Parts: sequence; structure tokens; C-alpha cells
Amino acid sequence: MREDTAPLNKYFSLPKVELHRHLEGSLRLTTMLDVARQHGVTVPASMYNLSGLVQVQDQDPMTFTNFLDKFKTLRLFYKSPDVIDRVTREAVEDAAKDNVRYLELRFTPVALSRAEGFPLNDVMDWVVASAQEAAKKYKIKVGLIASVNRHESPELAEQVAWLAAEYIKDGLTGLDLAGNEAEFKSEPFYGIFREAKQAGLHITIHAGEWGPAENVSDALQNLSAERIGHGVRVLESEKATQLARELGAVFEVCVTSNYQSGVVGSLVEHPLPRMLEAGIKATVNTDDPSVSRITLSHEYQHVCEELLVPMDVLKNSVIDAVQAAFLPDVEKQKLVASLKKEMEL
Ligand code: ADE
Ligand code: ZN
Repeated sequence: MREDTAPLNKYFSLPKVELHRHLEGSLRLTTMLDVARQHGVTVPASMYNLSGLVQVQDQDPMTFTNFLDKFKTLRLFYKSPDVIDRVTREAVEDAAKDNVRYLELRFTPVALSRAEGFPLNDVMDWVVASAQEAAKKYKIKVGLIASVNRHESPELAEQVAWLAAEYIKDGLTGLDLAGNEAEFKSEPFYGIFREAKQAGLHITIHAGEWGPAENVSDALQNLSAERIGHGVRVLESEKATQLARELGAVFEVCVTSNYQSGVVGSLVEHPLPRMLEAGIKATVNTDDPSVSRITLSHEYQHVCEELLVPMDVLKNSVIDAVQAAFLPDVEKQKLVASLKKEMEL
């Protein structure tokens, strides 16, 4: 990651909205070291050496396999209900301390449950309760999304989808398809996402990140996606671009993550400005702040100072993010009104 020299203050003080952040990509290094000590996880005892295993380094290959490998090591830390409670609370706290006003935090129940064989519904209970308590404590609005991975079993994904629908009343309002898009098709998941939508869950799909633009059309047409995770390759297909525009799909763009996982060769080549010019609704997000060693303020700064997106366009993307939130309409309108006032829009 490059060193930032320009002051972050301007971006820190902006009220922010995050639609795309993975809990499993948000663990603090200090917490991982505590957990390693308390639970006997055999990882390097120094921050520096541990960082190399769970965070993208400047000298790492910028590839999606290197990026996804970090999550394999992170799975060693989901040792107890207390750990899951702690990392959930800290993820919410970290967002609030970065002046994020509304956070949609996604988590992967299969990842959190599998390491120690916890039942999926217990994991759901723990994350929901901890997120709600932390939201109250740190005065931030939080919504939850359950993620399932393309490279893992559709049968488990189906269980997660059915369970998630039972938690809609508790603020778990979305279902996401994540994981290895380059090597795994979405087709085995079509029925699951159709039924999840019918059950009242909102849908967002990682597509057009490590796979082609056609995957964006696939997500919109076959997986009931309202939002697209990344989708930054959409401009490679006029058809996909037109479909996304017509449907008003909102894209959850994560600039640093795209650089670190090899989607773009450098930050300045990122297609976000061209997506906006093409009439695509794009929002700015972190993806995995700990894995990428960033905050959302850093991402807003990159977008304005390196991609040269004007501040008023960025502010309007914050409003677009609220409009696309998986929240009831009245809550969205309240948040839009207060953020517009604060940002002088
Ligand atoms: N899981 C965590 N980060 C991801 C990403 N950028 N793409 C797909 N799956 C992910
Ligand atoms: Zn993601």
C-alpha cells in the first residue's frame, strides 16, 4: 500500500456510509495477538510477522489468490463465542471512530462456525447481538448481511439463506455471494438467491471483480441482485453497462482492494471515474479494512486525490449509498435528510 502524505482530516470529518465491509476482513492485529495468546493459536508472536500472514504487504503479489489466502489464516482465530463477540464489536467501533454513520457489515457464518464446529444459528445469534449492542454504544447505525462463498458448498449456503431470513427482524437484511469468482460459477446458487429474495432478504452479489462483465448481467438477471459488489469490469461490456444503468443497480466499489487483488494494475488506473461518467451508480467502500490496512476515510481520499473525482460527486455517492441501503424507506429518507444537511448538498 502506498504511504499517504496528504491530510486525511477533510475525509475523516465527512459523514460516511459503508455498504461493503467484511467482518472477517476487519480484525485488529492487536486482537489477533491476544486471541493467539489466550487460545494457543500458533502464529508469529510479533505484529510485524503476523501482519504478513493476514494483511496485504507492498511486496506481496497483487493477485486474488494472495488476497483470499489471508482469509485462510484469519479462520484460525474464530476460537470462541467471546472472540466472535469481540471482533464484531471492534469492527463496529472502528467504523464509528472513522465517522461512518451507517455501516452494513457482512459476515460469513460458515467461516465463523466451521473453525470450532459452532452451530450456524449460534453464530448468527452472537453476531446479531454484538452488532446491535455496539451500534448503540458507539452511536452508529448498523445493518448486517450474511455472505456465502462461491467456492464453498451450495448446500451450506442454502442453510445460511434460510437461517438469515429468520433474522430479518433483527437487522440482518441481506444475503451476499462472495469468494472465488474467477474459478467458480454462480449457477449452483440461482435457486437459493431467488428464494432468499422471496423470503424478504435483499441481495448483493460480488461480480465483475475477478470475473468478466457478463457476471454483472448474470447477477442482475439470475441472482436477483439489487447491488453489485465491485462490478468494476462492467464497462468491458456495453450490454452489461446498459443493463446496470437501466435497472439502477448500485455498485459497491472498493478501490484499494481492487488494486491489491490484481483487478487493476495501479490505483490511478481504477475505472471508478469512467463508471460514474457512464451513468453507473457507484459508491465507495473498504471491502476488508484490516486485510488492506485502510479506513474508509483513506478510500474517500484516494477517490478524490488520485482518481480526481470531485468532492460534490463523492458527496452525492454517499447519498446514493443511503438510497441503496438495505433499510426501510422511512429510515433511508431520515438519513438522507440529515446527511444532505450536514454535507450542505
Ligand atoms: N471476501 C472478502 N473479500 C472479498 C472480495 N474482494 N471478493 C470476493 N470475496 C471476498
Ligand atoms: Zn467483498
